[in-house]
Amino acid sequence: MLVLGIETSCDDTSLALVEDGRSVVASLVSSQIATHAPYGGVVPELAARDHLTALPGLLELLWKQSGRRLDDADAVAAVYGPGLLGSLLVGLALGKALALGAGKPFIGVNHLQAHLFANFIHTPELQFPFLGLVVSGGHTLLLDVPAAGQFRVLGRTIDDAAGEVLDKIARLAGLPFPGGRYVEQQALQGDPASVALPRPVARSNPLDFSFSGLKTAAALALGSGKHALPDLMASLQAAVIDCIATRVERALELTGRSQLAMAGGVTANRRLLAVLTERASARGARVFCPPPALCTDNAAMVASLAFFRLAQGQTSPLDLNAVAQLEPDVA
Ligand code: KG4
Ligand code: ZN
Repeated sequence: MLVLGIETSCDDTSLALVEDGRSVVASLVSSQIATHAPYGGVVPELAARDHLTALPGLLELLWKQSGRRLDDADAVAAVYGPGLLGSLLVGLALGKALALGAGKPFIGVNHLQAHLFANFIHTPELQFPFLGLVVSGGHTLLLDVPAAGQFRVLGRTIDDAAGEVLDKIARLAGLPFPGGRYVEQQALQGDPASVALPRPVARSNPLDFSFSGLKTAAALALGSGKHALPDLMASLQAAVIDCIATRVERALELTGRSQLAMAGGVTANRRLLAVLTERASARGARVFCPPPALCTDNAAMVASLAFFRLAQGQTSPLDLNAVAQLEPDVA
């Protein structure tokens, strides 16, 4: 079954064709980093306008590269939330229009759930049930995924997302936006034990995350001028990873799951993958992480999730609205 996926929830315009949820026929991502870089963050209205102008050319390229036509697709899927409202509306409108015009089923997809499905692409070993970890610029989430289409939130950040902290400190340090990968580069040359930084705990739930105290401490350490940048970035990265790994260990124990599937832009961080692999395997769990290109926002993950939903006979009505604050466990 061939699904056309559309992703426009934030600042990446992406289209993909995926066969049976696991095999990518074609995948295109057009980044808006150059548009937003001068502002040090994503400007919502500019993001929506960039999606609007990029999508037609990207769609033409998708058909050209794949040798397929819209008629070959069995369904069209687009993200309907969470994300920037204007950006969501552009992709959602295109998805509905294509489905309506070609008489194909339409599936509205939850962006956070879709991130986890990047793990199914080219990885036949991953099976339900599993523990899901989404770490991105906007979210830090632990989910239990007992079966296709079922999601239970175990923990989430009560303040900042992990990626937000990395991006903020990188920006204060004068590194380019988005800063996560520059933090990782700097950290390679630094000593992670050189700057003492807190590992804040959320009182609400031991599986919840809290990063705002760490962000403030890192900003103060940077402002003090006492530390070499690689040392500070290595210490910051180690603290963020430690906060995540501690919750993952706890969640594996509580749920008894033996597989962890990671996703979201921050999981492109190879140190995070190494630490989680070490700490999860010490508890008998196997860790799955997509290749970096599928960790960040992409439409292949959208098409993959839509395939599993379709296989269960689930489609969406054409009057589906965009939901900026869509909860992680809503289909
Ligand atoms: O999932 P994503 O592409 O967009 C959403 O936020 O939905 O995630 C973007 C986040 C940014 O905070 C970026 O700095 C971070 O992922 N990121 C990284 C790395 N690559 C991207 N963080 C740490 N290490 C990386 N290598
Ligand atoms: Zn994302």
